[in-house]
Amino acid sequence: MDISGRTRVYAIIGSPVEHSLSPPMHNAGFAAEGIDAVYVAFRVEDVAGALAGIRALGLGGVSVTVPHKMAVMAGLDRIDEMARQVGAVNTIVAEEGELVGYNTDTAGAVAALSAHIEIRGRRFLIIGAGGAARAIGFGLWQRGADLTIANRSEEHGRALAHDLACRFVPLSQAAGVEADCIIQATSVGMYPGPDRSPVPAQLFRPGMVVMDIVYKPRRTRFLREAEGRGCRCIEGTLMLLEQAVEQFRLWTGRTPRQVMEAALRAALAR
Ligand code: ATR
Repeated sequence: MDISGRTRVYAIIGSPVEHSLSPPMHNAGFAAEGIDAVYVAFRVEDVAGALAGIRALGLGGVSVTVPHKMAVMAGLDRIDEMARQVGAVNTIVAEEGELVGYNTDTAGAVAALSAHIEIRGRRFLIIGAGGAARAIGFGLWQRGADLTIANRSEEHGRALAHDLACRFVPLSQAAGVEADCIIQATSVGMYPGPDRSPVPAQLFRPGMVVMDIVYKPRRTRFLREAEGRGCRCIEGTLMLLEQAVEQFRLWTGRTPRQVMEAALRAALAR
């Protein structure tokens, strides 16, 4: 990598960020496209201070991760309509001196799912009602999906179902929902937590498309049980890749998906 006085800096802000897979993906993209830029990770607690720094230092763009996806919104100049509806920003683009917020989890989920299932008119069951479920729900809603939300907390689940004008069922009744596609959008099953699935395996039917947002481990218990019952499985790594590709497109207009995917696979293998 040839860093000069003209090299543009991009970054991820969050806490923790030390194990983020975004730096290898974006740096591989910059290298492949011959773009004079570098992407680094900043562990940030002070969001307002970080935004002032982004402006003062003239960063080209920033990824925003846990726990700052909502807090950054107050400090931006403009927010994309979809990110506003989702209520979270995971991407900042420096556009002519202004910091503009986007949410690429929505497009990332749609891209990952579109490769495996037609979205319009199909029945999607989303497990969870947190930030990830919200982003996925709005992406699918925009594409005309028939949505049902299942969540442990009725209050959170009903609030998201209200915003998406869709059905809610308690998590304990998820097995009774007829769906073409089930999306696991909670943190259940994530390393280093227990090897658990939030739903019983009886929920799965042969031919269903099933996606997990958890990507560590790559084969969660949820996906293993779905696969065992003949479902078509989409790993969380695909949504992770697609949301990053969409970020890269917002920053550069390019979509080097193959090199970003290779960098992601290499980083996961390490
Ligand atoms: P994120 O923004 O990353 O999606 P979040 O806002 O904390 O994270 O949301 C976490 C989601 O996982 C919620 O839907 C949460 O359910 P509650 O609304 O009932 O809290 C769900 N979740 C977390 N741990 C869970 C568990 N052990 N069983 C079932 N659902 C769980």
